[in-house]
Amino acid sequence: MNDLTPTREQRTAALEGMGCKRKRVEDIRFTQGKGNYVDDVKLPGMLHGDFVRSPHPHARVKSINSEEALKVPGVLAVITAETLKTVNLAWMPTLAGDVQMVLADGKVLFQNQEVAFVVATDRYAADDGINKVVVEYEPLPVVIDPFKAMDPDAPVLREDLAGKTTGAHGPRKHHNHIFEWTVGDKDLTDAAFRKADVTIKEMISYHRTHPSPLETCQCVCSFDKIRGELTIYGTFQAPHVIRTVVSLIAKIPEQKIHVISPDIGGGFGNKVGAYPGYICAAVASIVTGKPVKWVEDRIENLTATSFARDYHMTTEIAATKEGKVTGLRVHVLADHGAFDACADPSKWPAGFFNIVTGSYDFPVAHLSVDGIYTNKAPGGVAYRCSFRVTEAAYCIERGMDILAQKLGMDPAELRLKNFIRQEQFPYHSALGWEYDSGDYHTAMKKMMETVDYAGLRKQQAEKREAFKRGETRDIMGIGVSFFTEIVGAGPSKNCDILGIAMFDSCEIRLHPTGAGIARVGSKSQGQGHETTWAQIIATEIGIPADNIMVEEGNTDTAPYGLGTYGSRSTPVAGAAIAMAARKIKAKAQMIAAYKLEVHEDDLEWDIDGFRVKGLPEKSMAMKDICWAAYNSVPPGMEPGLEAVSYYDPPNMTYPFGAYICVMDIDVDTGVYKVKRFYALDDCGTRINPMIIEGQVHGGLTEAFAIAMGQEIRYDETGNVVTGSFMDFFMPTAVETPHWETDFTVTPSPHHPIGAKGVGESPNVGGVPAFSNAVNDAFGFLGSTHIQMPHDFWRNWTAAKKLGVFA
Ligand code: CDP
Repeated sequence: MNDLTPTREQRTAALEGMGCKRKRVEDIRFTQGKGNYVDDVKLPGMLHGDFVRSPHPHARVKSINSEEALKVPGVLAVITAETLKTVNLAWMPTLAGDVQMVLADGKVLFQNQEVAFVVATDRYAADDGINKVVVEYEPLPVVIDPFKAMDPDAPVLREDLAGKTTGAHGPRKHHNHIFEWTVGDKDLTDAAFRKADVTIKEMISYHRTHPSPLETCQCVCSFDKIRGELTIYGTFQAPHVIRTVVSLIAKIPEQKIHVISPDIGGGFGNKVGAYPGYICAAVASIVTGKPVKWVEDRIENLTATSFARDYHMTTEIAATKEGKVTGLRVHVLADHGAFDACADPSKWPAGFFNIVTGSYDFPVAHLSVDGIYTNKAPGGVAYRCSFRVTEAAYCIERGMDILAQKLGMDPAELRLKNFIRQEQFPYHSALGWEYDSGDYHTAMKKMMETVDYAGLRKQQAEKREAFKRGETRDIMGIGVSFFTEIVGAGPSKNCDILGIAMFDSCEIRLHPTGAGIARVGSKSQGQGHETTWAQIIATEIGIPADNIMVEEGNTDTAPYGLGTYGSRSTPVAGAAIAMAARKIKAKAQMIAAYKLEVHEDDLEWDIDGFRVKGLPEKSMAMKDICWAAYNSVPPGMEPGLEAVSYYDPPNMTYPFGAYICVMDIDVDTGVYKVKRFYALDDCGTRINPMIIEGQVHGGLTEAFAIAMGQEIRYDETGNVVTGSFMDFFMPTAVETPHWETDFTVTPSPHHPIGAKGVGESPNVGGVPAFSNAVNDAFGFLGSTHIQMPHDFWRNWTAAKKLGVFA
């Protein structure tokens, strides 16, 4: 070795593989305005579509008159349910096994429901056209309060389901009932409650909210009549699934549908489902023979596509007087709006809500969920969440705090007492999951030491004394949250979407010069896949990450994958990438053995190539193996260096974390100040620590928004009163607290690189930390539970109710 020979450290660093804070390669184009989003797609002769929407939350549609609209210069067509019926597309199937109107068919069921689609030469003409469409409505009584939806005299919402006593998920108890889902052992749980020293019961609501990606949902559909081919550019988190669904419902052969998700400006679950805009744009393109673009505006996005949460969780915990939990009983009233369009794997009507036992060793538990219809927008998407995990984590983390309060115990102490212990993994939960790995005590203790938990409690006690003496009007809250996520849907034994198993895929093709392309079935919406997927490959096969181009989102080129949501990319696609790389490595080893004239077994891997065991100077770099793959492979071997992997994970992954929020609330104004927020995440092997930190910052900001104000609220007549950013809380850098991040590493034992997902964790753990801080503050004044969101007004109202004003 001379001075110019790179050291092992230099060789490793040159790869920018796993563990490296590699800068995001996609940001080169994003930060220069060179991204390519759906709205950048401009095809020759392209038309624009826009919706006439219902002002009424529940009304019969007596007539739709398009005459005047068609006279508006530029307006070419007005599509209604009657038009769609001619192609059998007036209704579409939902991911949850229900059906949904594409355009109002006889009645409307929520405010801003799509009633007609106006197609024009430009967006302005389409907008003028929608103002000229005359719709005659006959208002009907509304159901807004989910607790009244199953009253015997509640109005019938879904007349199309009249007489149907069974839905996609079993029996229906009422005309506005969708399903009942039960898990766990009811008898054993009831017995645990009968024997318990202490029990708590609280109705904990997780309000209706909505993801707010920078870019709303949109598409451009272009039907080529000559070839019979439909090309769809769209903001799709799962492009292959969209292709299959379009083929099934539009009866176009799947090979003639080309779905392209270009750059996507944030998804957060909003862009998983199929929306009327996609169907209408496709039909309009088929009818007019021209490409048709549909772009949702912000009000449409907030009020009509994909709400999240709206779970009302009656939570009961049984425990001994020493604070050992002995049983959990939860009933959820799930408000699904007008159609059951929840984006969950098919068999899971309430997603993975049965992770509600959280990080605690509950010997028994029972869960029941009733899904119901109301006059609200459909959706039920996993907003930065893995299928209702966020609701479950909030439920159990509030429940544990309420129990701690009743027992007079410290909430952190109660958690430490009840955690699943490290030696219990793989752990079988009372509600049916097998947690892969965890070390909760270490994470919790690290968090407590880093923030000086004991010191914070001391400070709180002093502040409370000062409050009693009238020296301050601030109350201090300390919110502890410890969450366990379940991400990586999923094993085909558990999870499918419309019958398609939830595997994922990767194809890697290496070129002669030691560069290559990886095509993956996932689809980044800003998570940095182009950066991190190349890092996995770099470590696995010793080609620098900079030499690997990552491509996603084109159904013609990417192998079939189930897309990106629910933090499934790393657990599933990430595993497929590692497995495809390992297939390449296996072939590379045969080529290297041939070139080095040794047996394959005599070779060992060394950072960026193979070397002969015991003879380190005899080696072949991967770059040179790539060249050899195209000119001198062993006799009988096919040339080239390429592999595909379809990965069906054996289990989900279970990331976890310990969060703490310290907050002061001024009781006279309700104004809160987040003094400190610390988040420790364990997502197993870390691919890119900088990207993880970015994911955590983003997720915490969304958690802050949701817990402290963000809400889709309806008045009692069914009007959405938070339909724009004027009313819907969207924190900017000004309001957003400072985040302290930390980590532990507990690899997943079944994942090829030991990685678990992380994207959603901060939202899952963040919301209960904020809410527990607020509730801890008000707990001092005698309150048990205050519902989210905790905006200034609600804080002030809570203080007033608790009698802090003379
Ligand atoms: O499915 P989604 O991409 O939203 O979530 P994810 O699998 O949690 O990944 C989000 C981003 O964090 C990706 O760029 C991952 O590669 C990265 N990540 C990481 O660097 N290490 C992990 N253990 C998990 C995710």
